[in-house]
Amino acid sequence: TTTIQVGMLGLGTVGSGVITRWPQAVTTIEETQGIQLQLTKVAVAHLARARQVPLPPETHLTDSITAVVADPQIQLVIEVMGTLTTAKQAIVAALTHGKSVITANKDLIATAGQELIALARREHCDLFYEASVAGGIPILRTLTDSYATDTVQAVTGILNGTANYILSAMTAGQSYDQALTAAQRAGYAESDPTNDVSGLDTTYKLMILGQLAFGQHLTREQIRPVGITTVTAAQCQFAAQHGWQIKLLAQAQRHADHLYCRVAPVAVPTTQILSQVQGVQNGVAIRSQAIGESLYTGPGAGSTATANSVLNDVLVATRRLQQGVRGTALSAPVQQLPVTNLAA
Ligand code: HSE
Repeated sequence: TTTIQVGMLGLGTVGSGVITRWPQAVTTIEETQGIQLQLTKVAVAHLARARQVPLPPETHLTDSITAVVADPQIQLVIEVMGTLTTAKQAIVAALTHGKSVITANKDLIATAGQELIALARREHCDLFYEASVAGGIPILRTLTDSYATDTVQAVTGILNGTANYILSAMTAGQSYDQALTAAQRAGYAESDPTNDVSGLDTTYKLMILGQLAFGQHLTREQIRPVGITTVTAAQCQFAAQHGWQIKLLAQAQRHADHLYCRVAPVAVPTTQILSQVQGVQNGVAIRSQAIGESLYTGPGAGSTATANSVLNDVLVATRRLQQGVRGTALSAPVQQLPVTNLAA
C-alpha cells in the first residue's frame, strides 16, 4: 500500500467537517485505490483553542502554515482557512513545493484562480476547488466534465444560503434583522455577513461559474452586484401574494457572442423551479445546447456537505498522485466575449 501524507490549513466549519468525515474517506480511498492517507499536520491560528472534533491519532496541530506547506513528506494540502492574502501565499508556497492543493476558498479562486491554475500547471501539481461554489452541490466538476462536449448558454443561480434564508424568512413574516440573526445562528453566514447580503459572495461564485461555463474571466466591476439590504419584508410578501418569489439571482448568459451578467434581487415567478429553492438551499439552473434546461439544488454550505466536496477532490487528487499524472485544475478553454451588465 502506498501512503500519502496530507496537511490541512484551517480547522473552522469546513475543516471540522473534513475531520468528521475523514475516517470514512480514508477507508474508501484505501479500498478503492489501495492508498493509505495520513493527515499528519493541521495548521490552526489558535493552538490552545478547544476543538469540537477528535483528530486522527497521527495528526499534529501546528500554528505554522510553513510547517505544513514546506513539509517534504506532505504531498497534498487542503486549504480551508479562508482569507485572501494569507491563503494565497500558502497555496502558492504549497504548489511551488510540488504539492497538490484542494481549496474551498471562493474569494481567492474568483479573484486569483487563473494565476493559481497557471502556477499549478507550471509546477505539475493539481488544484481542485469543488467546495468553493454551492458547497454540497457538485456543480463545478459537472460543468467541466459533463458539459465538455455541450455548449452552455445560460447559468442562473441562487448561490448564497444566507441571503436566500433571509428572503425566505421575510416572505414568511420575519423582519430583515431577525432573519439575519437566525441565518448566523444556523452557521451559514460568513463571520462578517457583509459579503452575503451585499451580493459580493454571490458575485465571487458567479465569477467561478462563468469561468467554467463560458471560459470567461468575469470581474467584480463587470458584475457590480446589487445586494438584498434594501429589500423589505413587505416587498417579499407582496411579491409572494402575486405569484413571485424574490431571490438574489446570479445570472450569466450568452447571446450572439456576447455575455450578459448580473447579481441582483429578482422577482422569480413561482412557475419557475428556482423560485422553490427555499431557506439555506442553493440552486443552479443551466441551459445548454444539447441538454436544454437542468436544475441542480442542494445545500450550498454547511460543515459536512462542504467537507464532502473537499474529500471528493482529495480522492481525485490522490488517484492522480498514484498514477503520476498531475498538472491539472478545474478549468475551461478561455474565451473573451464582450460583457454587458444586465442590472445597470
Ligand atoms: N456564507 C455562504 C452562504 C457560505 O451563506 O451561502 C457558503 O459559501
